[in-house]
Amino acid sequence: MQNLFKTVTTKAAFIAIVSFAGVGSALAQNMNTDDSIYQGLGAKAGIDKIVGDFIPLVLGDARINRFFTKVDTKQLAALLSDQFCELAGGPCQYKGRDMYTTHDGMEISNAHFNALAEDLQIAMEKNHISTSVANKLVAKLAPMQRPIVSK
Ligand code: HEM
Repeated sequence: MQNLFKTVTTKAAFIAIVSFAGVGSALAQNMNTDDSIYQGLGAKAGIDKIVGDFIPLVLGDARINRFFTKVDTKQLAALLSDQFCELAGGPCQYKGRDMYTTHDGMEISNAHFNALAEDLQIAMEKNHISTSVANKLVAKLAPMQRPIVSK
């Protein structure tokens, strides 16, 4: 009887350890531990600098600047900086609105989207970001095309 009890408790302990290990590795996989894009962008200061160059490029871009005439660009820059930082695997949390709600009703086309992405590429080039890192950030933005483009 005692032996049976011991077997059962040992088995239970074994199952408990295995399931904890399972949860642990699932958490580790979910957590963004790869911050190579973030580091490649020059961490938060580098991202702030890129966004600081990106906004004037957008405002000077005749293909898309009409969208931004009434926008608080200082607030937009802060939100974009956090969003890029989080996407790049950095220690930031984007607290703005979701991409669909934000751009709903703006009638943004693929051409508008590509123009903005091009301006971001130029801002990254200006800051000597490697092509590989720049392409990786743009690839992270690509899934946003669907909720943003409505025309
Ligand atoms: C990958 C592409 C894009 C990203 C990541 C992005 C991201 C954002 C973010 C984070 C905000 C602020 C959200 C908030 O206020 O809570 C925003 C606002 C805005 N975006 Fe985009 N955006 C993208 C493309 C575009 C394009 C292509 C246009 C137009 C050509 C555009 C026009 C705007 C405008 C006008 C606002 C200000 C909205 C407002 O203040 O109510 N965005 N965007």
